[in-house]
Amino acid sequence: MEINPQSSLGLLAAEHPEWIAVFERLRLDFCCHGERSLTDACRERGLDPAEVLAQLAMALDACGGPERCWLDAPMTELADHIEATHHAFARLQFETLATLAPRVVAAHAGHAPWLHELQGVLTTLAESMHDHMVREERVLFPWLRRLDHRTELHTGPPWSVRRPISCMVHDHDEVAESLARIRTLTGQYRVPAGACGSFRGMLTVLKELEQDTHVHIHKENNILFPAGVRAERAVLPSVTDPQAGHSAGPADRTSTHVSKEGRDR
Ligand SMILES: [Fe+2]
Ligand SMILES: [Fe+2]
Repeated sequence: MEINPQSSLGLLAAEHPEWIAVFERLRLDFCCHGERSLTDACRERGLDPAEVLAQLAMALDACGGPERCWLDAPMTELADHIEATHHAFARLQFETLATLAPRVVAAHAGHAPWLHELQGVLTTLAESMHDHMVREERVLFPWLRRLDHRTELHTGPPWSVRRPISCMVHDHDEVAESLARIRTLTGQYRVPAGACGSFRGMLTVLKELEQDTHVHIHKENNILFPAGVRAERAVLPSVTDPQAGHSAGPADRTSTHVSKEGRDR
């Protein structure tokens, strides 16, 4: 198949979830910076776009069958899916890390002092992600479901849905920064010589958490949130918001790169 190298990474990942593993392997940021074109993202990472296109084509040939594409899913279904899979998985991983990390720090920080910083980053990340997911589950996702069903549209706050979306996108940037810091501190999750089972386990859980969180953020930034902005425009065209209205902010950033129009790019 023909792959347009000018397509955004977010759009490519949304249309072909099979490519997410390739983007992860090459460290091409398809979640928080999914608005970048494949060509630009390759240039920034010093990669040859032609080689990356070849790897994408190979990934498509190698996969057993197409993975679920969420672009045309109703917002309610996607929000339900995100809660049931990614939110649940993140909570489970943080629960495991809450047991493993202090044990690893106590046993190994003497010869690996970076573990103290890791513990700090992890604690902050767990608290902020927990708070973030609760705000999505209690405020934003119910709002998106109301827009989806076109019911109780005036029961929420009197401003645009762009405002909470903008906050969530900002949170995602911070989460991605913390995950990148963890990746650096652990030397790309490298298992040190003589590491005990807890140390190995912690690194595995951290790596899984990073990979799943990238997909989680991608589904929100690149698919769910732009769908919410489009739905509000269609259902409540009169909604304006002086703070988040039509200014160029994070919500605008996400609303453009996987818009219905964008799918033709
Ligand atoms: Fe989420
Ligand atoms: Fe989120």
